[in-house]
Amino acid sequence: MENFIYSIPTDVYFGKNQIQQIGKIILEYGRRVLLVYGGGSVKRNGAYYDVINELSKLDIYYTELSGVEPNPRITTVRKGIEICRKNNIEVILPIGGGSTIDCAKVIAAGVSYPNDPWDIVLDSTKIKNVLPIISVLTIAATGSEMDSVAVISNMETNDKIGTGHKDMRPKASILDPTYTFSVPKIQTAAGTADIMSHIIETYFSNQTGYMQDRVAEGLLQTCIAFGIKAIEEPNNYEARANLMWASSWAINDFIKLGKNGKWSVHAIEHQLSAYYDITHGIGLAILTPHWMEYILNDQTVHKFSVYGIRVWDIDPVKDEYEIAREAIQKTKNYFVAMGIPQSLHEIGIKDDTYFDEMAEKASLKLTNAYVPLTKEDVKEIYYKSL
Ligand code: NZQ
Ligand code: ZN
Repeated sequence: MENFIYSIPTDVYFGKNQIQQIGKIILEYGRRVLLVYGGGSVKRNGAYYDVINELSKLDIYYTELSGVEPNPRITTVRKGIEICRKNNIEVILPIGGGSTIDCAKVIAAGVSYPNDPWDIVLDSTKIKNVLPIISVLTIAATGSEMDSVAVISNMETNDKIGTGHKDMRPKASILDPTYTFSVPKIQTAAGTADIMSHIIETYFSNQTGYMQDRVAEGLLQTCIAFGIKAIEEPNNYEARANLMWASSWAINDFIKLGKNGKWSVHAIEHQLSAYYDITHGIGLAILTPHWMEYILNDQTVHKFSVYGIRVWDIDPVKDEYEIAREAIQKTKNYFVAMGIPQSLHEIGIKDDTYFDEMAEKASLKLTNAYVPLTKEDVKEIYYKSL
């Protein structure tokens, strides 16, 4: 296990009606708020009205940025920064999923940055001052509610890039699972696949962390126990609650501290959403089993068999390769059972037009991955997924 500093300072207000705390939390940081939200789901499920009701009670000023896209765009970040500057905003309050929270994070970091905010996406060392962020989460998926990362798209250059800063971690997040009852089946599936992928990316690492891996296995089993359940019973509180808490813990750094390896499938997927604007979790679910098959070899087979035995309850007396292959198949089967398409074709990516440039960009991030991948390797994974 490597050295690390444990510091995960987000205050989490978890459970029904925790929104009633939001006014008090905001007043710790300021009284002028920018609400950030997406295409309107937060109005349909009531989260938005709950927030403004609480703000009104304490006379907290707010203005709004709506219409944040899934795969949030730098153009929307720019709009948000303008609104903040014009209205002397002190606190950024995203209500929604990872896209909304990520957009809010870069707005928060961009207000005091004198030049174009795309700079701070490309180079996180340019981030100096970040306005406080308080998030209200409405979908269990990215873990943005408790991590320091934001992923922003630039449609002009076909880039989707992650940036991060310790102060971009929300100061507080409201996690009320009832807000996720309205998440559609396919978004529930995509969110669950994303949570699972975050855990898998850290689990399959060249650094060891026995304790971290046992926690990771428990988180994966939580996703497996409740992903399909939440799809079948959208108002099942236990299912939604377990997925929501697992989403935060998958990526809040806890299972990564001490085994800080580079991720693999996310770099490959981010190119798909950059070029085709697809749902992140769907792309991950299509790619992950192909990536697993591609990297299965004598060096990785043991880890895959541990994964198969502990996460998927596969009989340990079997041969390691047999367990590994069964584990990969079970992973794929779970994604299919949640209703996720199994090929890029099915989601509208019908040819290999951009595979070369996508693989080129992705491979730059994969030289130190669990199994390092070249441009040709990544292309091969795209072809297998097509
Ligand atoms: O836009 P609205 O109307 O709000 O609808 C959203 C959107 O269409 C809808 N939705 C959210 N909550 C809902 C709901 N619909 C009904 N009821 C609710 N309660 O779901 C759709 C997807 O929302 P989005 O925020 O895009 O989903 P997600 O949370 O999966 O975020 C995806 C983005 O986060 C990035 C992804 O790449 C992608 O851009 N990621 C961020 C990470 C991070 N910050 O650490 C890490 C991840 O690996 C990921 O890359
Ligand atoms: Zn992800």
